[in-house]
Amino acid sequence: MSIVFTPDTNLFTLTTAHTACQMGLDPLGHLLHLYYGRRAAGDFRRLYLPRDCGFSPNPYEMREGRGWSLDTLPQEYSGSNTGDYRLPSLELTAESGVCGALLRYVRHEIRPGKYALSGLPAAFDPDAAAETLSVTLSDAAAGVEVELLYGVYEAWDVITRAVRITNTGTGAVRLEKAASLCLDIPFGAWELIHFHGRHTMEMTPERAPLLHGVQSVLSRRGASSHQHNPFVILCEPEATEDAGECYGIMPVYSGSHRTDIELDQAGSVRVVSGINADGFSWTLAPGEVFVTPEVILAFTADGLTALSHIFHRFIPCCLCRSRFALSPRPVLLNSWEAAYFDFDEDRLVRIAEGAAALGAELFVLDDGWFGQRDDDTRALGDWFPHPGKLPGGLSPLIRRVRETGLLFGIWLEPEMVSENSDLYRAHPDWALRVPGRKPAMSRDQLVLDLSRPEVTDFLYNTISGLLRSHPIAYVKWDMNRSLSDVYSAALPPERQGETAHRYMLGLYGLLDRLTAAFPDVLFEGCAGGGGRFDAGMLAYFPQIWASDNTDPIARLGIQRGLSYGYPPSAVGAHVSSSPNHQTGRHTPLFTRAVTAMAGSFGCELDPAALTEAERAEIRGLIARYRDEIQPLVLTGRYYRLTDTAIYSAWQLVSEGGDAVLVTVVTRSPESNPRPLHLRLKGLDPAAVYTLTRADGGGANADADAAAYTGAALMYAGCTLPPLLGDYPCARLYFRRKQPAAQDFDQEADYEHKQYGNPSAGMP
Ligand code: DGJ
Repeated sequence: MSIVFTPDTNLFTLTTAHTACQMGLDPLGHLLHLYYGRRAAGDFRRLYLPRDCGFSPNPYEMREGRGWSLDTLPQEYSGSNTGDYRLPSLELTAESGVCGALLRYVRHEIRPGKYALSGLPAAFDPDAAAETLSVTLSDAAAGVEVELLYGVYEAWDVITRAVRITNTGTGAVRLEKAASLCLDIPFGAWELIHFHGRHTMEMTPERAPLLHGVQSVLSRRGASSHQHNPFVILCEPEATEDAGECYGIMPVYSGSHRTDIELDQAGSVRVVSGINADGFSWTLAPGEVFVTPEVILAFTADGLTALSHIFHRFIPCCLCRSRFALSPRPVLLNSWEAAYFDFDEDRLVRIAEGAAALGAELFVLDDGWFGQRDDDTRALGDWFPHPGKLPGGLSPLIRRVRETGLLFGIWLEPEMVSENSDLYRAHPDWALRVPGRKPAMSRDQLVLDLSRPEVTDFLYNTISGLLRSHPIAYVKWDMNRSLSDVYSAALPPERQGETAHRYMLGLYGLLDRLTAAFPDVLFEGCAGGGGRFDAGMLAYFPQIWASDNTDPIARLGIQRGLSYGYPPSAVGAHVSSSPNHQTGRHTPLFTRAVTAMAGSFGCELDPAALTEAERAEIRGLIARYRDEIQPLVLTGRYYRLTDTAIYSAWQLVSEGGDAVLVTVVTRSPESNPRPLHLRLKGLDPAAVYTLTRADGGGANADADAAAYTGAALMYAGCTLPPLLGDYPCARLYFRRKQPAAQDFDQEADYEHKQYGNPSAGMP
């Protein structure tokens, strides 16, 4: 049993393989949060000694003694207007004028399986081993019940959280804030790691100690955003990749999110996470229910890599419902950087033929194929073939692409509409815009009002029609602006605060229907790259185009940032041409390719623009990606090795541990360089690993089967020859062999056996 309630003490204890989480009722029925951390047993109420803290009020019934205050005790789901002055989780106003929420225990239920959330993406229970705890609290004065939901995944070391709020009164209740998670961490010192960025420069980690007051990680953009990813980590100041306590908090939400982290007067930390309450309100009629998005919570005492591994496993196994989540994806070639808007059928077929000759498996026709889409000022919404570029429609193109041996995939931006489009001319009220105001334009487009069922029905019918009438194996689902002028022509004035969240519900409903109806179509998410790279999208899309920046050196940082929370298989990454279209930087083809091979790999260039030698190199690399590397990306373990101004290095270890791939890329070569020394991770210390291949600087060479123990590679490490020049890189591929007795005796010899190709490295 991973969930236990002890009636004599009124304690709820949730355990996973390595963690324990405990909450308990106080004498008045407030649900106190007592502990979440390393697995330990006991009654953790003992940690909270009564204390009278000035200006921290006491519940009326406990006014004598003054030792009890909601303001000083850790709460499982904080109310508001109750004398707990820290971050509220729930803010509301009832029709009676009662505002705030004082939540007390009503009942609970423990049941096998994982709860589901109606209308929202949520983790599922692949091995029928999860358990659900539901604890219902209520505030009779406000007329609400609050059901706290916990999904406990023992083997995965994960607890999911969500909340259902029911109007149990006789009048309307207006929710002004309804968080998904409140997590009080009463003791210890903590640092926050969050991931900020901008378009084409996403996911820069920033780590800093918490300061007193509140720090927020948020988006108001109607999308999770390039600017602030919803995933955050709290860790001990001493935490490293390999040791230390860390909490990972991952909202399963793709709209405007907010995680507030408060360090209070007593040194206690409160994290409140969920829908961003800015601009949000939701009116519940009597009997109606509001469901918050889910948050995935993980804790480990074993450092940041172990935390990443929890999410890397959990997302494809327990969240993403695509049949591609754990299985090979076709290597694709995308037309965007190859042709932008400038193509016709013959040009596309030539690119596809080039892609087939490289060994790609899927040709993706990006933007520009529909309506009068000659540039980005028009035609979004007109999802029929461009009469000038594709006069015969899609069918002849798809037939010719498939004759090259490739599958066919297509780009869509369903959530948007151009002012200059047939769709907008027919349905101007389908776009979000505030009456009486000119809307803010972004990329010359407006956002469709997905809160309206007729809009999502239109999109479902249009897209399913396209997918039914053509053999389309892949869809890139793009979204190229943030929401503004959020106002739905279909909602009454008092409900406008619901529009942004109803938009998300409409989008999730649409994705649910489409992905269920077309399970064999590989959907890739995108929002101008990583503008919506989050767990909500990953419930539907096994991969997301990580950034519009295809420069490999910039990608080092973006992909590293993503790796803290998201699995490598989720990261869409392409080799593109040099000089790079975003940065103008020249980089070697091998560096561009191996950086993209840290994720779900593809190409984004015109093969005809390559030299024959480059085409041969890519052909070889794609073949190796498919045979050796993709399995590691899909189900292996990913390790961040070193990351300095000079080098960035990472490692993948296959699921069973037999294959190990180390990649190091030079960011900026040094003169008189210090030794390039790496320690490998995640190996079996006693096993013997053979360096079967080392590639570097564009030269591929077979290594001479040098062999090392896992201990030697992890503890003593490898020293590689310096990588000089313009962004060179090296890649080492090891295979584990069954250790024979004499291998151990000869460990010293392995240490001295040198690998002969100086450009490729010497472990
Ligand atoms: C933004 C995407 O991220 C790009 O890859 C490309 O699809 C463009 N949109 C097309 O408009």
